Formats: sequence, structure tokens, C-alpha cells
Amino acid sequence: MSPEGRTAGADRPLALVTGASAGLGLEMARVLAQRGWDLVVTARSPAPLDALAEELDETCGAWVFVSARDLSHPDGPDRLIADVEATGRVVQGLVNNAGFGQLGPYPDLDPDTERRMLRVNVDAVVRLTRAFLPGMLERGRGWILNVGSTASFVPGPRMATYYATKAFVLSYSEALHEELRASGVGVTCLLPGPTPTGFQERAGVVAHRRARPDRERVRAVARAGVDGALAGRRRVVVGWRDRLSALLPRALPRDWVTTVVRRHQEGRMGGGESA
Ligand SMILES: NC(=O)c1ccc[n+]([C@@H]2O[C@H](COP(=O)([O-])OP(=O)(O)OC[C@H]3O[C@@H](n4cnc5c(N)ncnc54)[C@H](OP(=O)(O)O)[C@@H]3O)[C@@H](O)[C@H]2O)c1
Repeated sequence: MSPEGRTAGADRPLALVTGASAGLGLEMARVLAQRGWDLVVTARSPAPLDALAEELDETCGAWVFVSARDLSHPDGPDRLIADVEATGRVVQGLVNNAGFGQLGPYPDLDPDTERRMLRVNVDAVVRLTRAFLPGMLERGRGWILNVGSTASFVPGPRMATYYATKAFVLSYSEALHEELRASGVGVTCLLPGPTPTGFQERAGVVAHRRARPDRERVRAVARAGVDGALAGRRRVVVGWRDRLSALLPRALPRDWVTTVVRRHQEGRMGGGESA
């Protein structure tokens, strides 16, 4: 869709949401539109983004601009940034949500997929932050919501690179939150535990307990993330299970926790206890 394709809302602020075609990103886009935000939505698949734009125009009167880009492509983030700039609107909120994982014995995992994961889960987060943070700082207001994971707190055997990307996201977000405290710009990290979206299938998870369709859980996590970002919170963890996953690794020996995570992930590969 061209930037001229829709009329920008009069006073509504604008947020950019990555990974808005499905799962948590789709729900966070819906929540933001309900809270009065216009949006730039991005993912690789244009059809669900177009459908979302139409839905949010009808239901919330939101102006939604679609930029279908592949963030695993070396030029993907720059193309997205150029699309956003071409709208002539300023980004006041940024949701770095796009991401994916890869499960299996490390030597067997596809190195190209791993490289693409690093680009989407880490490089795009940094490049989009670098692109939109300076404007927020100049205006003295804005927020960035980065999607980490309960995986951010522990090493993840059988999903080593994914867990490491999410550890990066948490560390980066917390550090920026602290550094920018007096700036008017908030940086928040949303840390979901297992949430039934397309994530598990794409990661190659064969067996898992909580992957039954549960749109309410996806919505609750999305709502908490958006509200946490709008309130300038440092971290958002939703529900007692995820709070436990965040707390226990700090209280228990790290080597033991790493072994527990390995067993858990091996269960998700289909060869043992499922989770
Ligand atoms: N679900 C969970 O259990 C869980 C737990 C903790 C953290 N998270 C994190 O939550 C975030 C959202 O995941 P989700 O659960 O909502 O998964 P999802 O349903 O698979 O959605 C992932 C989103 O990212 C987009 N995406 C994937 N690869 C992309 C690429 N190369 N370029 C641009 N966009 C891309 C996908 O769109 P296209 O496929 O159309 O590109 C989709 O919109 C991720 O960062 C994930 O790590 C999820």
C-alpha cells in the first residue's frame, strides 16, 4: 500500500509493530489501535497485514500503513525504515516483536536459519531502535517495547542461539531503560513464557502441553505488554508460571537450571516429557 493510500488520523500517535501478521504482534497491534494509536505494521506476509489494516480501520478508525518486509534480509530493516519515513509521520512507539526460534541438537540446526534468526531477533531490534530512538529523544517522549522471553533468563540447550538472542534483548532493554530514565523515553521488555501462537510450529516444537488454542492468553500477554510500555515499565511478566520462570533461575544454581532446561527442551523435541 502506498503511503498516500490511507488518510492519517488527525491527532493519533503512531506506533510501528514488527511481526504484526500473527500471534503476539497481531494482538499488540489490535490493543494499540484500541488505545488510540495509528500504526505501521510489518512482517513478511502482506495478506494478513492488509486484513489487519482493514479491520483496525473499521473497528477503531485507525490509520494503518502496511510495509511487508523480511527482517532477516540484510536490507530488510533499512527498507522498512524508508517505508516509515515515506509516510511523513513520526514514530512515537516501537514494538520490536518479530522473532522466531529453532529447536534441536545444535550441530543439526541449519546455520542459514540461525543467521536469519540473529538478524530478526537481534540485529533488527538494534537497527530499528537506532532509527527511531533519536527522534523520540529530541521530542522528549516515546516508548520502545522489546519482546524477550522467559528464555531471556537462562541458557537454553537445544535452543542455544534462540535463548541467547532473548538474553540479548533483555540485557539491551534493561540497560537502555536505565540509561534513558530521565529522557521521557521508556524502554520496556515483555517476557512471555510459552504462549500458543505459530511460534512453536515454526521452531520445530513437536510436543508441548500448553499449545492448545488459547487466544485469551495471547491477548492477555499482548495487553500487558502494551500497557506496560505505555506506563514506562522496565519489565513485564504475565501470570504466576512466567513469574516463577523469571524468579527461579536467580535463586537456583545456574548449572542445575541449565540441565533442567535441556531436559525440558528435549521433551519438546518429542523424545520425552512434553512441555
Ligand atoms: N509464543 C511463545 O511461546 C513465545 C514465548 C516467548 C517469546 N516469544 C516471542 O514473541 C515474539 C512473537 O512471537 P509469536 O509467539 O507471536 O510468534 P508467531 O505467531 O510465529 O509470530 C511471529 C511474527 O514474526 C514475524 N516474522 C517472522 N520472521 C520474520 C522475518 N524474517 N521478517 C519479518 N517478520 C518476521 C511473523 O510474520 P511472517 O511470518 O509473516 O514474516 C509473525 O508476524 C517473538 O519475538 C518470540 O520470540 C514467543
